[in-house]
Amino acid sequence: MKTNFSLVPKIVRQNPGMAANMAMSFLTARKSIAVDRRFRETTTKELSLIYFRITPLCNLRCVMCGQRGVKGVLKGAYALEESKKIVPVERYYKLVDEIAPKKPVFYMWGGEPFMYPDFMDLAEYITDRKCLLSVNTNGTFLAEHADRIVKNKWHGIFVSLDGFEEVNDAIRGKGSYRRVVEGFNAINEAKRKYKAHLPYMGIVTTVSNMNYLYLHDLAVAAADFGLSWHIINLGTYTNDAVIERHRQFMRRELDTEITCLPAYNTGFNEGIDGEKFKEILKKVHATDNGYPIITVPVINPDKIGEYYSDLDVIVRDNCTVPWSQANIDYNGNVHFCADYPDYVLGNIMDDEFFDIYNNERAQRFRSVLKNSPNGLFPGCVRCYQNMLCGHRRPGY
Ligand SMILES: C[S@@+](CC[C@H](N)C(=O)[O-])C[C@H]1O[C@@H](n2cnc3c(N)ncnc32)[C@H](O)[C@@H]1O
Ligand code: SF4
Repeated sequence: MKTNFSLVPKIVRQNPGMAANMAMSFLTARKSIAVDRRFRETTTKELSLIYFRITPLCNLRCVMCGQRGVKGVLKGAYALEESKKIVPVERYYKLVDEIAPKKPVFYMWGGEPFMYPDFMDLAEYITDRKCLLSVNTNGTFLAEHADRIVKNKWHGIFVSLDGFEEVNDAIRGKGSYRRVVEGFNAINEAKRKYKAHLPYMGIVTTVSNMNYLYLHDLAVAAADFGLSWHIINLGTYTNDAVIERHRQFMRRELDTEITCLPAYNTGFNEGIDGEKFKEILKKVHATDNGYPIITVPVINPDKIGEYYSDLDVIVRDNCTVPWSQANIDYNGNVHFCADYPDYVLGNIMDDEFFDIYNNERAQRFRSVLKNSPNGLFPGCVRCYQNMLCGHRRPGY
């Protein structure tokens, strides 16, 4: 019941392109883990995934969001102030040229990436160079750009949807569900018009105490959206004790003051009943929509209660992210941790990316991480990137 991977043979028959894509993603993930196991040096030649948190602006205010939600670090007028620092598109073009030979996946997110002024041009620049482009969006701008998205051959669109209409809109704002559905329809129509199989589209659902009881309703509603996957993200959470340990650790080991982790102390993990959630996930994973429904992290169903109630329990360790990934922030800062951009390696407005990626600060970060207990910092216990790229703990 952890996933419905039993559908894979059917997908191979129905859609060989998507099957190849899934296999590639899997092999890329394995590759980054293999690299980490062989030589945990403080420098690296690998770059499999590059995130662009391209804007601090967003048109929604999802309650659990670490940026714009109830505890978000980019609330109110501050985001508008920060948006004055965005990197000009010409600098991104140069950056793409520098990075493209490594053939990483370019993963755009934000804020809401469509709110970056030259977003569609930058996307086209990336796909023109035959690089894989994946975009994580709230989906509310898809309809108006559908034609160009399909023509430009974006590879993947990860659309956030947290429930069927009423539940989703309580979390993400009134009318957001409808706009996402309109977006899916418009993309599917453009795909038919151009006889295109790209982009592959999928949903990302972030679990909270507001939606976990209703995930099956969403899985059923999503059957007709023309999707290729549904990811159920168990969510990033923390609490006061973890924040304090992380604060002391980062101060002591990396001379860094943290500001980002407290934004995930939202309380939206509280009250999630592990037994009830287990039963709901069983129903969700038994749903045959013709595409995989994947829980991240893939977790032993008996441990789901612990995931939400005991934030000290480690389910993934030895995070591999700094050996194969980086995040470029809206202001040009480069970090390893996309959600916790406290430790800055450098800035692309001052230096070339590859000079930053293995500079002294990058090496120091990798060295401290690999020598930390469990290969993690205290605040990494529920980080989404660690859930994807850390090593699975026995029993979890
Ligand atoms: C911050 S958003 C940025 C991209 C875009 N605005 C969107 O909503 O998809 C990136 C992803 O993080 C998810 N997210 C928001 N709050 C989260 C949390 N507390 N834990 C884990 N994921 C979260 C969102 O649902 C979305 O899928
Ligand atoms: S749409 Fe994305 S960035 Fe905007 S508030 Fe929601 S989760 Fe955060």
